[in-house]
Amino acid sequence: MKTLPDFDMVLFGGTGDLAMRKLLPALYQQVRAGTVPQGSRILAAARKPLSREAFLELAETTCRPFLGADYDADTWRAFAARISYFPMDVQAGASYGALGAALGLHPDRVRVFYYSTSPDFFATISDHLGAAGLITEASRVVVEKPLGHDLDSSREINDAVGRHFAERQIFRIDHYLGKEPVQNLLALRFGNVLFEPMWRREWVQDVQITVAEQLGVEGRGDFYEGTGALRDMLQNHLLQLLCIVAMEPPPSSDPDAVRDEKLKVLRSLKPFTPADVAARTVRGQYKAGAVAGAPVAGYVEEPGVAPGSRTETFVAVKAEIETWRWAGVPFFLRTGKRMPEKLAEIVINFRQVPHAIFGEATQGTRSNRLIIRMQPDESMRLHLVAKQPGDAMALHPVHLNLDFSESFRARRLEAYERLLMDAIRGRLTLFVRRDEQEAAWRWVEPILESWAASEDRPKAYTAGSWGPAASSALLSRDGLAWNEED
Ligand code: NDP
Ligand code: BG6
Repeated sequence: MKTLPDFDMVLFGGTGDLAMRKLLPALYQQVRAGTVPQGSRILAAARKPLSREAFLELAETTCRPFLGADYDADTWRAFAARISYFPMDVQAGASYGALGAALGLHPDRVRVFYYSTSPDFFATISDHLGAAGLITEASRVVVEKPLGHDLDSSREINDAVGRHFAERQIFRIDHYLGKEPVQNLLALRFGNVLFEPMWRREWVQDVQITVAEQLGVEGRGDFYEGTGALRDMLQNHLLQLLCIVAMEPPPSSDPDAVRDEKLKVLRSLKPFTPADVAARTVRGQYKAGAVAGAPVAGYVEEPGVAPGSRTETFVAVKAEIETWRWAGVPFFLRTGKRMPEKLAEIVINFRQVPHAIFGEATQGTRSNRLIIRMQPDESMRLHLVAKQPGDAMALHPVHLNLDFSESFRARRLEAYERLLMDAIRGRLTLFVRRDEQEAAWRWVEPILESWAASEDRPKAYTAGSWGPAASSALLSRDGLAWNEED
């Protein structure tokens, strides 16, 4: 991979969960790959009053399990040499002095401000950076999701950040867009002619997008209480995946060409009426059960969760896209915590053959489907039927492996690695534009409002199951079922 330009990355929230699990490991991997120039610097900032040495020790101990076999002491030393630590309260203007002195006056040097803190601080940090004169022409800001908790709050944050950074400098991250199979789906759709004629209502019966996690809220109960699965996952990750599946071919891969097409999809989503919310959404909350053979507590027993909480840890939605291409094709989205396995996949179910010349037995086999899997493995498979060798004309399900992992032996980048490098290089294609984000909030808001106004509780599901029974019923009403393919 090509070397990056010299950069300074200021990591606000440098001691936090995201920084330790994803951001610092991603930067380490790039140092290991030799793409980070010698003079580049990582300036971590957080409240904890740590010395540089104490921060580096904390970072090494905490990041190491996330690096696995890729950890080695020499590379870590080379990585650590680029890191400094700034104990500061981001709300106090005076504390930006030391940061400014360290950054110095380098108008042409790439400067990335990564806001890995609560979004409540994004406006304040932007104001202080602006007042301290630290935002240069070559500066970028990366903001984490979810941005706000509804349309109004997201607008306020976007306005505040936008007072100091131009839209071309704002990188709204959605790490699902950085996953390799998602990129591969773009390549499959827009680099080949084969699928395009079939990528429409005449050939596609339904689309299913699942992001299931075995994890619970992992000590982030406080954060999750104000968020829930709809805001944490569906408003951003699942809707972005839906856009990648449903968008029209863009005229080029330029950031705005791609984002214009995604925006059109979001604006074409059939809005929810209160009656629709009852009929087309399911919310659930896990109760105690077992995941991977180990007993786990229910959501309300987790630290930081209010007794009687109505926060959803599972959501399933039937989305409809009101365009000529997709009219009548249901897009089913589901995501949940404490599911039986970690699974993230997009399933395109093509229609069955119009007339079964090999007998009814071939109907209903799980053929004619494309499965793009992001987790646990990264793969892309086209499921078909083929004749079983032998006398009889017996058909058997087979699949074509389309991920070419045999052809391409290069190391696969973690989503955050790719996106951080893109932010440093100034490539916006895989980042979300403000109007997309607002369209996504606009679409989910009636669901949030309807749930908030309702006396109903989320439906309980046992930890280690695939969510409440109502989730299966959502599909069975259309004569369909969630994919259970391996
Ligand atoms: P954490 O609560 O783990 O970390 C928050 C960070 O902010 C800590 O480093 C904390 O420093 C710092 N901080 C808090 N208050 C201040 C302050 N007044 N001044 C300076 N620093 C402060 O949060 P996460 O890392 O989990 O999340 C960060 C962001 O990323 C959030 O916007 C979240 O929604 C988003 N996100 C997180 C994901 C994850 O997997 N964790 C996934 C996707 C998005 P300290 O406590 O040391 O003082
Ligand atoms: C984050 C959510 O955006 O995505 C977390 O805030 C979730 O709650 C995580 O666990 C899942 O990401 P991945 O890449 O592990 O599927």
